[in-house]
Amino acid sequence: MTTTRNRQILLIEKPTDKLAASHFRLSEGQMPAPKDGEVLTRTKLVSLDAANRAWMQGATYRTAVNAGTVMAGVSVAEVVESKAAGFKAGDLVFGDTGWQDYAALPAKELIKLPDVKPMTHLLSVYGIAGLTAYFGFLNVGRPKAGETVVVSAAAGSVGSIVGQIAKIKGCRVVGIAGGRQKCDWLTGELGFDAAVDYKGAALFRVLKDAVPDGIDIYFDNVGGDIFATCLAQMKLHGRIVCCGAVSQYDNAPPASGPRGVPGLIVVKRLRVEGFVVMDFFADRDKAIAELQGWVASGKLKVEEDVIDGLENTPQALVGLLAGENRGKRMVRV
Ligand SMILES: NC(=O)c1ccc[n+]([C@@H]2O[C@H](COP(=O)([O-])OP(=O)(O)OC[C@H]3O[C@@H](n4cnc5c(N)ncnc54)[C@H](OP(=O)(O)O)[C@@H]3O)[C@@H](O)[C@H]2O)c1
Repeated sequence: MTTTRNRQILLIEKPTDKLAASHFRLSEGQMPAPKDGEVLTRTKLVSLDAANRAWMQGATYRTAVNAGTVMAGVSVAEVVESKAAGFKAGDLVFGDTGWQDYAALPAKELIKLPDVKPMTHLLSVYGIAGLTAYFGFLNVGRPKAGETVVVSAAAGSVGSIVGQIAKIKGCRVVGIAGGRQKCDWLTGELGFDAAVDYKGAALFRVLKDAVPDGIDIYFDNVGGDIFATCLAQMKLHGRIVCCGAVSQYDNAPPASGPRGVPGLIVVKRLRVEGFVVMDFFADRDKAIAELQGWVASGKLKVEEDVIDGLENTPQALVGLLAGENRGKRMVRV
C-alpha cells in the first residue's frame, strides 16, 4: 500500500523568551484518514499571525500550543476527501489545519470559502485580518465622521485595513508603526493623515504633535508602552478598541495587573472594550460584501506578503514578530 507523505512543522520546544526557527522542526507523518463527520484537507495558504506566538504563552481564546505537537495555525485548504455532509472534494475551506500538508478535521470546525481571485485575499482582506479590522473598528470603536483615530501596528495586516476603513468613514487617521519606510507608506500609499515611528524619537511627544487635540478612538494592536502612551492622550469619552497586544507576545508571559490604568479610564470616562473576531461571525457575509465593494472601488488597498514553502513557516513567524511584514503575511504551501 502506498502512503502519501505529510510534511509537518512541529513545535519542539516552547520559547521562554524570543521565538527562533530552532524551536521548530520539519517532520514527516502519514496523510491522515478522515473518520465519519470529518474532512481531509490539503493546505494551500498558511496564515501567519501574531497570535501564533501568544498561544505558546498559555490558553487564550483557544487552548495553549504545546511542545511536541504540530504547530497550530489557520489556513486556506482544499478538500481532498469528505466524510461529512455539505463538503466535497475540491471545496475551499478555512480552519485550524496546523502547519502541515494534510489534516483530518471535524466538518463543524471548518468554514466553506467562496472561489475568490486571488485566493490570497481569503486570508487577508476577506479573512481574519479584514474581518477583525472591520468589526473591531466599526462595531466596537463605533466611529463618527470627523473623529481622530490612532491605530498601532498600523502597517500590519489588521492595522493597515483599520486605518483605511477609518478614512472611508471620514475620520482623521494617525498610524503608529516601526520605521520611517512603513510610516511613509502609510501616508503616501494608504492615505493615512499622519504616521509616527515608535522606534524613533520619544513617542509621547511625536504622537502629541500628530494629535494635538487628543484621540477619540485608539485601536490597540500592541499593548504595553504604546497602549499607555495613547491612553494618556485620549479625549473625554474616547474609546479604546483592545484587539491584541503583540508587544507582549514574544517573551515570557507579562506580569498581570493594570497599575495606574483604571484611574485614567474613570477620569476620562473612556470605554475600553476587547473583542474576538469570531464574536461577530454571524454578520460575516455582510462584512465581506462591504469589504469587496471598497476593494472593487479602489477605496481599500490590499497589501500581502506571500512567502513560498511550508519549510519557511517558522522563520516567517519570527520575521513577523520582528516587524518584517507589511500587510498580511502568509505562506504558500
Ligand atoms: N481580537 C481579535 O480577534 C484579533 C484577530 C486577529 C489579530 N488580532 C491581533 O491583531 C494584532 C495584529 O496581528 P497580526 O497577526 O495581524 O500581525 P501584523 O499586524 O500583520 O504583524 C505584527 C506587527 O506588529 C508589530 N510589532 C511587533 N512587535 C511590536 C512591538 N513590540 N511594539 C509595537 N509593534 C510591534 C510589527 O510591525 P512594526 O514594524 O510596526 O513594529 C509587526 O509587523 C495582534 O495583536 C493580534 O493578536 C486580534
